[in-house]
Amino acid sequence: MNSIEHIITKLHLKPHPEGGYFKETYRSTGIINADSLEASYNGERNYSTCIYFLLTSDNFSALHRIKQDEIWHFYDGSPIRLHMITEAGKYTEHIIGKDLSKGELPQFVAPGGCWFAAEVVEGDTFSLTGCTVSPGFSFEDFELKSKKELTDLFPHLKSIIAKLTHD
Ligand code: GUN
Repeated sequence: MNSIEHIITKLHLKPHPEGGYFKETYRSTGIINADSLEASYNGERNYSTCIYFLLTSDNFSALHRIKQDEIWHFYDGSPIRLHMITEAGKYTEHIIGKDLSKGELPQFVAPGGCWFAAEVVEGDTFSLTGCTVSPGFSFEDFELKSKKELTDLFPHLKSIIAKLTHD
């Protein structure tokens, strides 16, 4: 199996603010005008973007959200557990992986506006995934909130939020 260091070097990955490592591999040259997007985008965006995303077992991707749906693709390593909180406060877990007999699926669509966090299911290893979004990604559409802010929003999920925030 590929080692973590080998993947980071060969795929030119850099640390991601939510945790893990990433590299943008595609950004369409086509532009969606601001007039064609919901007003909340507050500007134009590329049609679509795609990244590699590598998460290691000793870290997690903290609860965050973006405006658009995000399509996750599984590539290598351990399955990844996606924790999801809808805007209405409903919590669910989803395993993205390739062991179909265990009910894992190699693709998952994370709906825009929901809060997401991710962790590697197995210890001492990694998950290599891809994430595709349309409209294309902009950090202007990316929101990370503190433990306190999220707990104020979803008090019934206090212990899950405590585990899945960095501050
Ligand atoms: N580009 C930089 N960060 C991200 C991210 O979290 N998701 C997607 N889809 N693209 C990104």
